[in-house]
Amino acid sequence: QKVSLTGIKPTGEPHLGNYIGAIRPALEMASSYESIYFIADYHALTSVRDRASLAGWTRSVGATWVALGLDPKQTIFYRQSDVPEIFELTWVLSCVTGKGLMNRAHAYKAARDRNAEAGIADLDAGINMGLFNYPVLMAVDILIMNADVVPVGQDQVQHLEIAADVAGSFNHLFGDVYALKIPEAVTPPGDTGRVLPGLDGRKMSKSYGNTIPLFAPEARLRKLVRSIKSDSTPVEEPKAPDTSAAFQLYENFATPGDVADMRRRLEAGGTGWGELKNALFEAINTRLTPLRERYEELMVPGSELDTILADGAEQARDRARPVLAGVRRAIGIDAL
Ligand code: TYM
Repeated sequence: QKVSLTGIKPTGEPHLGNYIGAIRPALEMASSYESIYFIADYHALTSVRDRASLAGWTRSVGATWVALGLDPKQTIFYRQSDVPEIFELTWVLSCVTGKGLMNRAHAYKAARDRNAEAGIADLDAGINMGLFNYPVLMAVDILIMNADVVPVGQDQVQHLEIAADVAGSFNHLFGDVYALKIPEAVTPPGDTGRVLPGLDGRKMSKSYGNTIPLFAPEARLRKLVRSIKSDSTPVEEPKAPDTSAAFQLYENFATPGDVADMRRRLEAGGTGWGELKNALFEAINTRLTPLRERYEELMVPGSELDTILADGAEQARDRARPVLAGVRRAIGIDAL
């Protein structure tokens, strides 16, 4: 059976974009793939500097997966930080990865661009080595579990290309002794493959502060959905659904029939953005209401989530050890 693997970083409460881009496809794949999903807590450390936040968001990511249906009997589910093998392999693969490859990584380039726009002369100001090396750690998350496919949103595709490159460099040097498996990204097909927009129409992202958290309480969810940016076309006039963030969200949460119907009504005129937003709220809320209670239970420290993650960590380490051993043998570190 092929292995599906993915991770989410606890830099905030998990949001609708995480669900559509990664969690929903990953859970669908869990029945036909061997599934390995994790919380990328050490990745979050590149930006989160508050211990209570890091702990709370880590729990929130864990509770979200389980409330949405992750079955710990079927899926290995763990915290990245519980698998020390990952960090040893990160050093090894850092040593076979060109610095130039990291210079081209989107997140690093974006951080430099922000400095340039702010008129800061040192473009690397405020950028830590963790952010710079982020793609290598992510490559290791994948490679150490021998993953075949990685369900992610479109924004992570470059990271998957880098992971394949990093594995390729290692294999080129040491593949005659031990070879790493080259992974592939899978992104949601068709229109859902686009990144999901947030409240302001830009990519929904924790770093833009424009997210709709999956398990926001009902009243907050309603308020957030109402605040999605829309143009000022009057109710009676025809509207262009495809330019609307609310409609793109609706496409991902409503049934195909309801989506087609809403499109017709918006294009014909007479239906306002407010009506679309009400329908969107209903569609999301109907899906999540039955799961909120379970989420809240899992959010309590000492809940079942702790046992799930502890068991998952053991299983993850069992899988990681032989890969690390193969790498150590290949590079000659244990040949003494
Ligand atoms: P992160 O935590 O930013 O996002 C988690 C997943 O959600 C997807 N996603 C989106 N999909 C569609 N529309 C959006 N607006 C949207 N926002 C986020 C992301 O594509 C991602 O799949 N580097 C990763 C975490 C990671 C990882 C890994 C992933 C660490 N190691 C190994 C896969 C395999 C990240 O920052 O995702």
